Amino acid sequence: MKELRPTTAELMDQYVLGNYGRFPIAFSRGAGSYLWSEEGRRYLDFSSGVAVCALGHSPAVMQDSLREQSAKLIHCSNLYLIREQAELARFVVETMMEIPGKVFFCNSGAEANDGLIKLARKRARDKYGAAAGKNEVITCQQSFHGRTLGGIAATGQPKVKLGFDPMLPGFLHVPFNDVAALREAVTDKTCAILFEPVQGEGGINTATPEYFAAAAALRDEFDLLLMFDEVQCGSGRTGDWCGWRTVLEGTGVVVEPDAVSWAKGFAGGFPMGSFWVSDAHAGALGPGTHGSTFGGTPLACAVAMAVLGEIESAGVLENVKVMNARIHEGVAKWDFPVIRELRGVGLLLGFVLDTERMNGVDGFLESGKTPSLFVVNRAREAGLLTVPAGDNVVRWLPPLNVSGEEVDEALALFESVLAGMSVK
Ligand SMILES: Cc1ncc(COP(=O)(O)O)c(C=O)c1O
Repeated sequence: MKELRPTTAELMDQYVLGNYGRFPIAFSRGAGSYLWSEEGRRYLDFSSGVAVCALGHSPAVMQDSLREQSAKLIHCSNLYLIREQAELARFVVETMMEIPGKVFFCNSGAEANDGLIKLARKRARDKYGAAAGKNEVITCQQSFHGRTLGGIAATGQPKVKLGFDPMLPGFLHVPFNDVAALREAVTDKTCAILFEPVQGEGGINTATPEYFAAAAALRDEFDLLLMFDEVQCGSGRTGDWCGWRTVLEGTGVVVEPDAVSWAKGFAGGFPMGSFWVSDAHAGALGPGTHGSTFGGTPLACAVAMAVLGEIESAGVLENVKVMNARIHEGVAKWDFPVIRELRGVGLLLGFVLDTERMNGVDGFLESGKTPSLFVVNRAREAGLLTVPAGDNVVRWLPPLNVSGEEVDEALALFESVLAGMSVK
């Protein structure tokens, strides 16, 4: 008798750590903005692996660079000079940041943020000595900075810390966009302010120009580092290389950070993180202070360069702005009581649900789900993949090169989902 092949769900259940809440679906193929499940159903993917697949699934530029670079050199160690790393760092400094500085490469967003925290502490220690105790990092409530011990300590959401005490000391969380609270929190012990110019996991909350300006003024007054976590909002997702530049554009507020972290879309799905630090502070992380075996391999750097190079040369940043406008135009025609607002920047967008009205939606209370999860599930059933952000925001994170037709298809699918949710 033929042995029955276990399903992916059965295998995962038996062998893979159960640390993720997963949707009951496995994909076997992806191309551009679409994914195909093992059963062969096609989905329009407006989750992009949570803001990772910047150019969609398996883009030709990634396939080509993976093939070409892997045939040449995959890994050699940071014991040696690496041409691909140098070229990529030059691109980050000259094209993305446009501010003189130095770049470090690692493998994830949490690792990049750990690097920023180390940078800020080391820089303050070198300058003021251990006795000064200038080692506190201020971050924001609802922030998300990763799952390492440094990342969860920095993250301003109690749920990520639960059960992992003792926390790494020296972190203070202040309400996002509350200038007075930020001023109140900063002292001589503060070595850095770290925030996301657009909070992703926390519900698509954009920092106000006043907040940027206040943080920059405190940086100058207290000689601390102003650091931006652009893991989710960077690498072109907002329609500019830098999320904070998009947010501040046209506001008259000009702020330059001292350090910035990236991951997610930075290499389009190849695992990679990085951070930039201005020349003024780069000396804090000298030889032997920081490192990563896999950080900045020739393969990772070649792939990231191919992805970022394509974003640059194929007009992808402009496409982000055009598609943002197209989405807003489509949504403006809707009138669904459960949608309170569409917010966000570029293609980092959040539909804010009206939690009161969701209570009246057929089947919602019985589902036991959060409003965002309930709607994300309905959208998935309709063939559109989206992502919850907190309890009441549904994120749209399409590939940055998404087409107008695909945006229209997503609008139609989401509209049908909302229209099918009758409110009592
Ligand atoms: C703003 C931000 N920072 C850090 C991280 C952590 O990145 P990673 O999962 O690559 O460690 C995330 C992940 O969602 C993020 O959104």
